[in-house]
Amino acid sequence: MNRRDFLLALAATALTPAAGWTAPSAMRLKAEPVTARLLPAGQGVTRMLGFNGSTPGPEIRVRQGGRVAVIFENGIDRDSAVHWHGIHIDNPMDGVPGLTQAAVKPGETFDYAFDMPYAGTYWYHSHERSWEQVAMGLYGPLIVEERDPPRVDHDITVVFDDWRLTRSGQLRANFGNRHDFSHDGRLGNFARALPSREAVRRGDRVRLRLINAATARIFQVEIGGGAGKIVAHDGMPLADPEPLGELELAPAQRTDVILDVAATLTFAFLTRRRPYELGKIAVQGVNPAPIDAPIAPLPPPRVPAPDRKKARRLTLAMQGGAMGGRHGGKDLWAFNDHSGLPDAPWQRFERGETALITMRNDTAFPHGIHIHGHHFHELGEDGALGHYRDTTLVDPRRRRDVLCVFDNPGKWLIHCHTLAHQASGMKTWVEVV
Ligand code: C2O
Ligand code: CU
Repeated sequence: MNRRDFLLALAATALTPAAGWTAPSAMRLKAEPVTARLLPAGQGVTRMLGFNGSTPGPEIRVRQGGRVAVIFENGIDRDSAVHWHGIHIDNPMDGVPGLTQAAVKPGETFDYAFDMPYAGTYWYHSHERSWEQVAMGLYGPLIVEERDPPRVDHDITVVFDDWRLTRSGQLRANFGNRHDFSHDGRLGNFARALPSREAVRRGDRVRLRLINAATARIFQVEIGGGAGKIVAHDGMPLADPEPLGELELAPAQRTDVILDVAATLTFAFLTRRRPYELGKIAVQGVNPAPIDAPIAPLPPPRVPAPDRKKARRLTLAMQGGAMGGRHGGKDLWAFNDHSGLPDAPWQRFERGETALITMRNDTAFPHGIHIHGHHFHELGEDGALGHYRDTTLVDPRRRRDVLCVFDNPGKWLIHCHTLAHQASGMKTWVEVV
């Protein structure tokens, strides 16, 4: 980011949070052109895409065990479809054109309806030309509340994103250029954290649901103004909440934090040069009766236990990109010497089978690997069970073992969530029967 962009970020006004929607009534979700206030007041608006008039799209909120029913209407001039990221969803509702449904043509609709087995912070986004449509704004938060939620004064969603803007504040039209595809993806020159609420009181206990909606940017985030704990990653509770330090959010990752407010809450992006102010939540007034119980773990989800002994051992090698050397795939990126979706699944699992997958990054770039319809355990160097996530970041030339119980029947994509990498080869699929 250059200096001009940094100044622009400081001067910008907050986006108006989108109006929410709460189950159980059926909802219309229309993808359409929108204008967003990214620029300082008086300097005009940015033409983008969004849902129901805004980007991010409306926050969809439902109680755990509840059902979401959405009539998706495609009001843009290209095919589209909606993916419900991180939900252990009924496969035909997963929103992947070419694998689980046909793309929705301009002017047409598609009915999505599915249950929410787990509580947590999720999101939805276009899964058609996602490297372009997500970068243009086609996404929104999807929140599943616990049946017995933790006591907080406010539950606030904070969406992180970056955009590549021209000097007049419009999205640069160079989507899909080869340099982005073969390097880090489409990084923006202007980044923000967009909270769903503008002010809190000193002494309030707040839950922050952080969502990285960027197509390529890995955010290193420092939260100022409060003390608290990290209570969940990718929607799934930590058995032992962790101290709130510097956070890393790869594209598509989420983190839930519960903290007690002492001063203005600030979100700083720790760049190599200096912190970049992404956004804040102001303090107005004082909470006369602060919650003083300790911050407890969220209710544990009933997730399937992995069977390590019988686990199928697999390697998923990430290959390609600039400075990546040769591989057997036909596009810029590959998994195991194959670019793009193979005709037959990479693996076929019996329902409930456990796989131990070594995700090995043979490239010069980091990759956040996402498995659809499931979460998986990250394993430490010593094999200890780590976080339970749906997207795991593997640094260049490193590897990470994960343990996944494939218990959800259907056809599931596995891909890099740097969406330019996905578009140029780094994806595959598995079938659970
Ligand atoms: Cu967030 Cu394949 O998706
Ligand atoms: Cu990647």
